[in-house]
Amino acid sequence: MLTRLFRTKTLEQLRASAEEPEHQLKKNLGVFELTTFGIGAIIGAGIFSSIGTAAAGNMADGRLPAGPGLVLSILIVALICGFTALAYAELASMIPVSGSAYTYAYATLGELMAWIIGWDLLLEYAISNVAVAISWGDYARSFFSTVFHVDIPGWLGMDPRSALKLAEGAPAMDLAAKLQALAQAKAGLVHGAATFLNWEVIRTAPTVAGFPITINLLAVVITTLITWLCYIGIKESARVNSVMVIIKVAILLAVVGLGIRFVSPDNWHPFVPHGWRGIQAGAAIIFFAFIGFDAVSTTAEECRNPGKDLPRGILWSLLICTVIYAAVALVVTGMLHYTKLGGIADPLAYIFTEHKMGGIAAVISFGAVIATTAALLVYQVGQPRIFMSMSRDGLLAPWFGKVHDKFKTPSHATVLTGFLVAIPAALLNIDEVVELANIGTLFAFVIVCVAVLVLRKRRPEAPRKFLMPFAWIIAPLGILGCVWIARGLPAITWYRFFAWLAIGLVVYFFYGSRKSRLGMPTAS
Ligand code: ALA
Repeated sequence: MLTRLFRTKTLEQLRASAEEPEHQLKKNLGVFELTTFGIGAIIGAGIFSSIGTAAAGNMADGRLPAGPGLVLSILIVALICGFTALAYAELASMIPVSGSAYTYAYATLGELMAWIIGWDLLLEYAISNVAVAISWGDYARSFFSTVFHVDIPGWLGMDPRSALKLAEGAPAMDLAAKLQALAQAKAGLVHGAATFLNWEVIRTAPTVAGFPITINLLAVVITTLITWLCYIGIKESARVNSVMVIIKVAILLAVVGLGIRFVSPDNWHPFVPHGWRGIQAGAAIIFFAFIGFDAVSTTAEECRNPGKDLPRGILWSLLICTVIYAAVALVVTGMLHYTKLGGIADPLAYIFTEHKMGGIAAVISFGAVIATTAALLVYQVGQPRIFMSMSRDGLLAPWFGKVHDKFKTPSHATVLTGFLVAIPAALLNIDEVVELANIGTLFAFVIVCVAVLVLRKRRPEAPRKFLMPFAWIIAPLGILGCVWIARGLPAITWYRFFAWLAIGLVVYFFYGSRKSRLGMPTAS
């Protein structure tokens, strides 16, 4: 049994399977394409939406604000991601096979760990996309409202839990008490706005048995559309991706360039309102904005010179985004006091609206809609391919690996991913989703750092085109850094993560461990 759990694929098996003629992909990516791919995957909902929560925190939910010190959170997260990026780069140069952390774990820590990582990557890809879809909806609403004066009703733009949030200073209540207070507020017996944060939304929402019905409709609409595009096989071509990247970077530079004139240094006081714990809490949220550099390693089989170009592409994309993010954080918190950024779904547009520049706010909302659409596409294309790899390895049923006869896309896995993103996007709160995606991704990062060290010990002779410098110092620092970021997440996120892993283990023991191709006599 134990041998089964820890059976590994050898490096040679992995390379050979990528070199099989039917699995050969076109090798046309160089440093420039890899860097743009990385920036395309990195810039998304994190910087456009979560930056507000990271700076302002949310004391009611136990999230400390980082305040203007968010720029420090960003630099620390970038450094930790940089350590992990070096680990990804070494493994990608050694095992230039798509599949990223899942493949690396299969090669080093064994099948059980590979399964856990594959399961965990669902959090990174699908759950990240839930957050991106929610952010898309928020900016789209703001855009429709400022440009076309079309106000989509609040109850069609909010998840049920956010809708029932209590106002600052209102006494704590359970759900039954909230519904009672809502009925009383509607009858004019209780002050609605003093009790509920989103009183206007729930006042106008239809009710079923006293429960206000709210749903994030736009997030569902965009997820359905993107899923359809992935189903019929519209992949982001390198050219479209470059245009998207230019738009994303241009919008963020516009925020900095146009906003800098309105920065008032008074807003930077206090710079670090909650000390290191605030910086850590900010890091735990803004980490989301960095997810994606690791996706560069999934293109390993399509690189002209993976050994040299992959590490450079990963590190360049990370560096460019870090500089932009740091500048955006300083300008945003300089334009508006961080305490005013709490609960704002579209902070980069909001800061300009507050400075009476509705036109710029509209352009930024439009840019954010484009930027988040591009990010959605990257992850919505990525997730079904992870399902497919796992299905090919026998860890998931063949159903997941089914390729559409006409469109040649992983059709079942694509539709399933659509549901996995659309349903939570309709019903969940963006902050909770971001935190869950973060803990899942941090876990994958830890495994990748461990995998580098394991391979250094077990296969010191295996060729590596890129060597992580000072691996025995940097990889452990990467691990400690990821744990430090994860410790900034609320306890409830940890519980949800462990519950997720527990479900994954049950699935593995009932299915994957019995059906794995590696366990078959003819495994390749
Ligand atoms: N880094 C990606 C984003 O911010 C996940 O949307």
